[in-house]
Amino acid sequence: MNKIRRPIIAGNWKMHGTKKSVAHLLDVFKSKLNKDNLAEIIIFPPFIFIEQVANLLKSTPIQYGGQNMATALQGAYTGEISGQMLLEFGCRYVLLGHSERRSLFSETNEIVAEKFKLAHEIGLCPILCVGETLVERKEGRTEEIVTQQLESVIEFMGGVSALSNAILAYEPVWAIGTGVTATPEQAQEVHFFLRERIALYDTMAARNIRILYGGSVKASNAQLLFEMPDIDGGLIGGASLDAEEFFQINQAAGIQ
Ligand code: PGA
Repeated sequence: MNKIRRPIIAGNWKMHGTKKSVAHLLDVFKSKLNKDNLAEIIIFPPFIFIEQVANLLKSTPIQYGGQNMATALQGAYTGEISGQMLLEFGCRYVLLGHSERRSLFSETNEIVAEKFKLAHEIGLCPILCVGETLVERKEGRTEEIVTQQLESVIEFMGGVSALSNAILAYEPVWAIGTGVTATPEQAQEVHFFLRERIALYDTMAARNIRILYGGSVKASNAQLLFEMPDIDGGLIGGASLDAEEFFQINQAAGIQ
């Protein structure tokens, strides 16, 4: 990948796995990975497997993070996990605003912005997910929707300086878990749009931020997506549960 930004290959395991499958998946994946791997690899396991993952990834360059975090650092929030707890277990990253959090758990742009601010304050690097639904795309509202999702965070943060320790992920909702991938051109168009949007505030921030594509990325389509100039890697759901497939996706980020 002949680009100014180092690619990232992130695996979002969602609510999948057992202690046994986690050990197997990471053992196989680690055995394939080269020490000087081009892409940065970040794994997002369910919270309860984070300690196991941390142990399995000791002395490897593979990073890990939380799939979500609470809007508070501690307190009476039954069932929640705080960013502080993620840090204590060695996480450096947190996924925020994933479309499943937005649609199934009613996370609004305001809630996502609050979480983003908290992550930034405590030194966790957020991966902010944005993306339109199929209806919104058909209505021609893709740019409007991703702008709202991005701008609500920028406004709440008072500018784009916090984006220097953040990652963006464009995940069209219609492509997530459906087997339908955005074409490289469709994805590139939105990635370019997001970068231009950030450039309105700060051209360096726009140039430096990594924007991942997510939505049915597989070994068979990864390379063409990653070749696009504004696509800096992928956020992989289903295909990250298969060590060989995930490894092939990682390889695709190193081919160009
Ligand atoms: P998918 O999920 O790769 O299974 O489509 C992507 C995501 O939700 O992050």
